[in-house]
Amino acid sequence: MLAYILYTALSGLAVLPFLLYWRNRYLLHDLRYAITAVGIARRLFRSSTEKPFRSILDRFLQSAAERPHKTFLAFEESSYTYAQADRESNRVAAALSSALEPGDAAAVFVGNEPMFVWLWLGLAKLGCTAALLNCNVRSKSLLHCFSCCDAKVLLAAAELRGAVEEVLPSLKRQGVRVFVLGEGDAPEGTECLSDKIRRASDRPPSPELRADVSPKSPALYIYTSGTTGLPKAAVINHERIWMASFLQSVAGVRSDDVIYICLPLYHSSGFLMGLCGAIEKGITVVLKRKFSASNFWNDCRKYNITVIQYIGEIMRYLCNTSQRDNDKDHKVRIAIGNGIRADTWVDFLRRFGNVCICECYGATEGNVGFVNYVGKIGAIGKEHFLHKMGCPYALIRYDTEKEEPVRDCRGFCIEVPIGETGLLVSKIGARTPFSGYANNKQQTEKKKLRDVFVTGDVYFNSGDLLRKDHEGFVFFQDRIGDTFRWKGENVATTEIADHLLMVDCIEEVNVYGVKVPGHEGRIGMAALPLKENMDFDGKAVYQHVKSYLPSYARPRFIRIQNALEVTGTFKQMKVKLAEEGFNPSVIEDRLLFLEDNQGYVPMTQEMFSSIAEGRIKL
Ligand SMILES: *[C@@H]1O[C@H](CO)[C@@H](O)[C@H](O)[C@H]1NC(C)=O
Ligand SMILES: *[C@@H]1O[C@H](CO)[C@@H](O)[C@H](O)[C@H]1NC(C)=O
Repeated sequence: MLAYILYTALSGLAVLPFLLYWRNRYLLHDLRYAITAVGIARRLFRSSTEKPFRSILDRFLQSAAERPHKTFLAFEESSYTYAQADRESNRVAAALSSALEPGDAAAVFVGNEPMFVWLWLGLAKLGCTAALLNCNVRSKSLLHCFSCCDAKVLLAAAELRGAVEEVLPSLKRQGVRVFVLGEGDAPEGTECLSDKIRRASDRPPSPELRADVSPKSPALYIYTSGTTGLPKAAVINHERIWMASFLQSVAGVRSDDVIYICLPLYHSSGFLMGLCGAIEKGITVVLKRKFSASNFWNDCRKYNITVIQYIGEIMRYLCNTSQRDNDKDHKVRIAIGNGIRADTWVDFLRRFGNVCICECYGATEGNVGFVNYVGKIGAIGKEHFLHKMGCPYALIRYDTEKEEPVRDCRGFCIEVPIGETGLLVSKIGARTPFSGYANNKQQTEKKKLRDVFVTGDVYFNSGDLLRKDHEGFVFFQDRIGDTFRWKGENVATTEIADHLLMVDCIEEVNVYGVKVPGHEGRIGMAALPLKENMDFDGKAVYQHVKSYLPSYARPRFIRIQNALEVTGTFKQMKVKLAEEGFNPSVIEDRLLFLEDNQGYVPMTQEMFSSIAEGRIKL
């Protein structure tokens, strides 16, 4: 009898895994994620309590000491070992040591090249904060980015001399020291950094310089688009760098991997997930100046790349190249990134073989993120109870017309049921801080949502509309408010509007993003009434946007209206206009299209079809 009971009990236990599996197909994935997450939490805790604090720089130095001959960075025809990179950055530190005190900020205005990495490491060795300027910003925006982080010096690439000279008088007035890289004479009023670095010692600077660095002290400023028009400097502290760099572990990156980074290093994905993640793993980085669809797979073969980093556009461009016999001939096993569309995902796997695509979601300054650790096509992540415990977030009901969260009779927000789209908000707390924007209290406040579920609570407003399914998968739906994404860049509608308003003929402006078939994100469009008795001056508008806006931010479509429509609360109607799009057979207003290198031309039905069918490239 006893034997029988034992027997049934044991066989009952044996079916338990099957029962659990039947309840949750992703049990193994969930378990593996839980183990990784606990490991990461432990390391984070250790790093934040250790004295002295160990930053990502110390991890780099550890690799340089333990595996000095391992390749750290390959770029074009050069490659640098960990030890060489260490010495290069020592030189940078020595060259800049007289210009900077520990705790100072320095702005780095350099594109993807090894010097970018040496500058950052050098600054970190001096205990300084690096502000990573977007290489596309110019004039007023450049000055703004520079001054909002109180930087003492500007370090600029040789090819950006022109942009620096434009703002040099203002910088000089602020007492800023400007260093320019490259050979030959530095422009008047600047210092030649390359010379100084060449002559500097490669001995390590004293670790004493970093004695005051703590988990909470700012390590970087990374710029995100602002709603008031100008970019905002998100404060990235050392703890945040650690968190982002662990993502490679979640994706399954091993210490023998080689990662390919062609995303700009001034953005958080390239810098934090890519470069810092690689340093955390102690792996080799192959750095590219920029993405090129035609060289991509040849590079992967040449350098034995095993991990790639993407944004949605990269994957789409890769799938859009013509099919080749050797499409599957490569060693890439992991792709980490965000923004891949479900159809591209399917195409990509079919074309390029069994690559594990790890889609992630997170904002540079945000305090919440998701990882699709299961590889479910189309999802940006999967909810995990540990994650939800560590970082309380919710999808709340949102009114897209009024552009605000819906509140119940008591004034609190309402969580949406599974399957319904809602605004992602996440609680700001000790473990999930929101460091905000440097010198911008107003914008920092604007990202906070108060009294969400109880009086006095504070949440980070992500500005993204997401949907969750019954298995816990999270799907991206849309972005709200005053920014849209195009070609992997965030575009602030008000920044563009401010520029357009400077053109004489324009009375008022409403800028929004419109969807284009076959494209990720939204492309810029502006609705505008003209000043009385004035005609649309396409030449002037084109000249203006060409000189002041990077190509991804220039409005490609213009809609001339008699007057701007506003909502009941006098907000500009963006949602309705965005839905109406740019089809001349639907819209009665005059429409113009910005042709590449041509200027604004009247939009025809034929152009519309060509754009929709992909014959005109945007
Ligand atoms: C790539 O791998 C092959 C074979 O494993 C090896 O012969 C080659 O040297 C490697 N190339 C690089 C750049 O490491
Ligand atoms: C790339 O996409 C366009 C449409 O966007 C299409 O017309 C073209 O044929 C595609 N090229 C390849 C090689 O797939």
